[in-house]
Amino acid sequence: MSDGTRFDGRTAIVTGAASGMGRATAIRLAADGAAVGCLDLAADAAAETVETIRAAGGRATAAAVDVSDRDSVRTAVAAVEADLGPTRVLANVAGILKFANSHEVSVEDWDRVVDVNLKGTFLMCQAVIPSMLEHGGSVVNVASTAGVFGQAYVAAYAASKGGVAMLTRALAWEYVKRGIRFNAIAPGGVATPMTGHVDFPEDTDFSLIQKSIAADGQMIDPNEPAALIAFLASDEAASINGTIIPIDRATTT
Ligand SMILES: NC(=O)c1ccc[n+]([C@@H]2O[C@H](COP(=O)([O-])OP(=O)(O)OC[C@H]3O[C@@H](n4cnc5c(N)ncnc54)[C@H](O)[C@@H]3O)[C@@H](O)[C@H]2O)c1
Repeated sequence: MSDGTRFDGRTAIVTGAASGMGRATAIRLAADGAAVGCLDLAADAAAETVETIRAAGGRATAAAVDVSDRDSVRTAVAAVEADLGPTRVLANVAGILKFANSHEVSVEDWDRVVDVNLKGTFLMCQAVIPSMLEHGGSVVNVASTAGVFGQAYVAAYAASKGGVAMLTRALAWEYVKRGIRFNAIAPGGVATPMTGHVDFPEDTDFSLIQKSIAADGQMIDPNEPAALIAFLASDEAASINGTIIPIDRATTT
């Protein structure tokens, strides 16, 4: 448990900070002492996260971003760094999930899921690496159990999250001697708006997707992955690099 000083003097950026796991992560990092840039496509809701952090005595700022768009990413990161200083922690939490039969999925939906989940994670990493090369840093990406063992009806999502895992390992190797760590978490079913309402194909065989819920059938509290992200981002995890840590109540074991 942190005493609130874990990230003192450090700036963290969290994408997807308007909702679910991203909001929980932004609040957790701020409680642990970070000044937090709350980035999201939903700028108004990200501003609510900022209000929550400030009300608790923390420091935060919000910026609108579409993580799949390089210019938008650069603009948002520059705005946060102008306000809060160089980025030392990045949590890539933004993501989207769409269910479909793979023989019916549109190219547009495929592209959007891969662009947001995989390219967006890369573009965010790329944007903060210059600051981190100068000041040191730690990146935590959010993969998924679906990107570890696969999952029916979400081929683009599973492929994008498998890509996030390998992107994490590739960057961990590349920057291991230059002061930047990269890790990922692979959550099972977490109780967030993403899982609160899902549009399944009409002919969905639910027996095929039961594994995507935690092995004991319980949804995970978003504060748990938030705490894991905070640990991985902190100096307490200084020797943990290039790992993909499941948080799934034994689903992947
Ligand atoms: N909920 C789960 O069961 C679960 C399990 C494994 C992994 N994940 C992953 O965890 C992450 C967080 O998911 P969540 O459950 O909190 O979902 P959520 O829908 O509550 O939050 C996702 C956030 O990402 C934002 N977002 C979407 N597209 C964006 C874009 N292009 N640019 C910037 N922001 C964008 C949304 O506005 C939203 O605020 C996602 O990457 C998701 O794939 C979720």
